[in-house]
Amino acid sequence: KTPIWLDCDPGHDDAFAVILAVEHPTFELLGVSKLSLSPKTATKKIQISTVHGNASIPNVTSNTLSILTSIGRTDIPVFAGSMKPFMRPAVHAPDIHGESGIDGTDLLPPPPEGITAQPGNAVLAMYNAVMKTQQGTCVIIATGTLTNVALLFATFPETVAWIREVSIMGGAFGERGDSHGNITKWAEFNIYCDPESAQSIFSNPLLSRRITLVPLDLTHTVLATSSVLSSLLHPHNHPRSAPPTNLRKMLHDLLTFFSKTYADVFNITLGPPLHDPLAVAAVLLTDEIKWDFEEVRVHVVCDGDEVGRTVKRAKEEKVDEVRGEELGAGGELVECIVKVAKGVDVEAFWKLLLGCVERVDGR
Ligand code: BDR
Ligand code: CA
Repeated sequence: KTPIWLDCDPGHDDAFAVILAVEHPTFELLGVSKLSLSPKTATKKIQISTVHGNASIPNVTSNTLSILTSIGRTDIPVFAGSMKPFMRPAVHAPDIHGESGIDGTDLLPPPPEGITAQPGNAVLAMYNAVMKTQQGTCVIIATGTLTNVALLFATFPETVAWIREVSIMGGAFGERGDSHGNITKWAEFNIYCDPESAQSIFSNPLLSRRITLVPLDLTHTVLATSSVLSSLLHPHNHPRSAPPTNLRKMLHDLLTFFSKTYADVFNITLGPPLHDPLAVAAVLLTDEIKWDFEEVRVHVVCDGDEVGRTVKRAKEEKVDEVRGEELGAGGELVECIVKVAKGVDVEAFWKLLLGCVERVDGR
């Protein structure tokens, strides 16, 4: 079983990342009985932080609490993280996700009285939680901008060696010929919003072979088509006459809104790519879903017209024997080796995700 920390900015697709992270049995809360341990003493195996991105910190934090409320999992602690990158103003995406960050439904419930974000600093909470896990088991999943995660690794470098991996939804390499980014011609939104944080992660030698990256090139092969929307509303094993649950209606509303903005803004009419839950699915240690990965180095452009662009670099290595760092031909520090997702079994992914919604139905 895998202890995970999800750092997110809900966000229509982040909402599905939350559901997959919280509901998949291999990520389940372990050894915690809410009845016998008070929330203060229990170490939750799954925790969540929010980060500026699709909308402001108050919005994405309240969206996260509402999503957890909609699936009855307000026992999961949520920490509000960075409100902006440290070198730039924050950028939001109201054209894609609406002003709230998760527009398009009236069915998202407000959290019950007393359910709020945890007090305290999200990065410190992340550090404390990660260091309480068994070394080499914990996975950090980032489905928003990378400010919190970069701050964690910069402030507490020992976490880098402690985790199993960090899985990031971000980047665009333009390998399918459909140009590159979704915020500029070159850049993907999560990386564009805080390229310095992204580059600090991709150039951390200790993170070599510990980063999984799920770029747009991959997520654009996983579209929430009308057939996905209809199986969300009417699962095949439910009688057609049974009315859909509120949760299913709400998720259907969200994907309908997301489909419309993707059609309007990007002219993608087959359905929107559901980026974020793919970064969760990529760290599963089960054989429910097959992936194709490649190892490359990734460089982030931090200024100029192509700011936020991710560029693959060749993998040849030269290690500084004394410092254990990998060096380029001119002796400069080069980016670490990243596992980039190239292909996924799309049908297996939808089965996995819809199976998690099914688990909520069953409670
Ligand atoms: C990423 O940007 C956000 O708008 C989505 O939630 C996703 O994390 C896709 O580029
Ligand atoms: Ca996101």
